[in-house]
Amino acid sequence: MGKVAFITGANQGLGFGLLQRLNELYTKEDIIYVGVRRTEEREKAIQSIINKGPKLEVLYVDVAKEDTIKSVKNTIVEKHGGIDLVISNAAARISPDIDNKDQVAQFVRTNNFGAYCMLKHFQPYLKENGVFIVVASSFGSLIHLKGHLHSLFNVETKSLEEINTIMSNYITSVKKGTATTEGWPEWINIPSKIGQVALAKIAAREEERQNANKHTSIFAVCPGLVDTDASRPFFNNMHEAQTPYEAAKHISNILQTDTTQFSGKLIQFGRELPWN
Ligand SMILES: NC(=O)c1ccc[n+]([C@@H]2O[C@H](COP(=O)([O-])OP(=O)(O)OC[C@H]3O[C@@H](n4cnc5c(N)ncnc54)[C@H](OP(=O)(O)O)[C@@H]3O)[C@@H](O)[C@H]2O)c1
Repeated sequence: MGKVAFITGANQGLGFGLLQRLNELYTKEDIIYVGVRRTEEREKAIQSIINKGPKLEVLYVDVAKEDTIKSVKNTIVEKHGGIDLVISNAAARISPDIDNKDQVAQFVRTNNFGAYCMLKHFQPYLKENGVFIVVASSFGSLIHLKGHLHSLFNVETKSLEEINTIMSNYITSVKKGTATTEGWPEWINIPSKIGQVALAKIAAREEERQNANKHTSIFAVCPGLVDTDASRPFFNNMHEAQTPYEAAKHISNILQTDTTQFSGKLIQFGRELPWN
């Protein structure tokens, strides 16, 4: 039986690079479900790829709407019984020109609660040797957070739902204007990325506890700096930035190794980044 993969946010940016790369690596026995949110981008994403082998099927998914994730899961599980690779890549953008109060809720809803819902619906259907990747960032490390906040993200003891509660409380703090005095960093991307990495670590912990014999891998990745519409407003010099395809290559290289060594970790360019 061929491999089955699902990528969210696959119509542009890193997600599209990942789609291009998987399209090269997979064979005609395999199928890639291409998760896109904006319907007008659906066909564009598919048509611009020269199909070198795998079947590509575009499915609508808005990760801020749990029912759309569930619907994709049902489609895939009914057809294939499970899934080999899930890449939770979709992410809302933020702008340095918009007050954090006005963008934090949508950002966390998409990037954190979205990643949670992806894990909730797909983790139970990972096939043997299946892989679940949360695209996060090197900013998703406790190194970037003041010490008194570290225990909120204790990945040894917390549940996925407890991380959601912490992120909900964080939204409230930002909206109330108390986040800075509570010690949270100014850039809302940092707590969000830490929350995402915590989800991957906790999901991997539970997977190891409950399904060790399935040899599945759940981990977070940082793609490094990638030249996309999302990153450009935050970095003046993009000369060093990778193209989405180049960044995707680093991630796909990981997939060609024994991925169980990465489970529960945050990985960049094939190496683990420290959590604290
Ligand atoms: N770029 C970098 O330098 C960099 C560095 C470190 C980490 N990352 C991480 O890499 C990931 C991808 O970043 P990127 O730079 O490629 O961003 P991007 O260019 O903004 O692409 C984001 C993708 O997510 C989709 N999306 C947004 N909201 C969605 C939702 N509610 N449901 C489903 N899809 C949604 C977008 O679709 P639409 O076209 O419909 O908006 C788009 O396809 C993010 O997690 C980001 O934090 C990026």
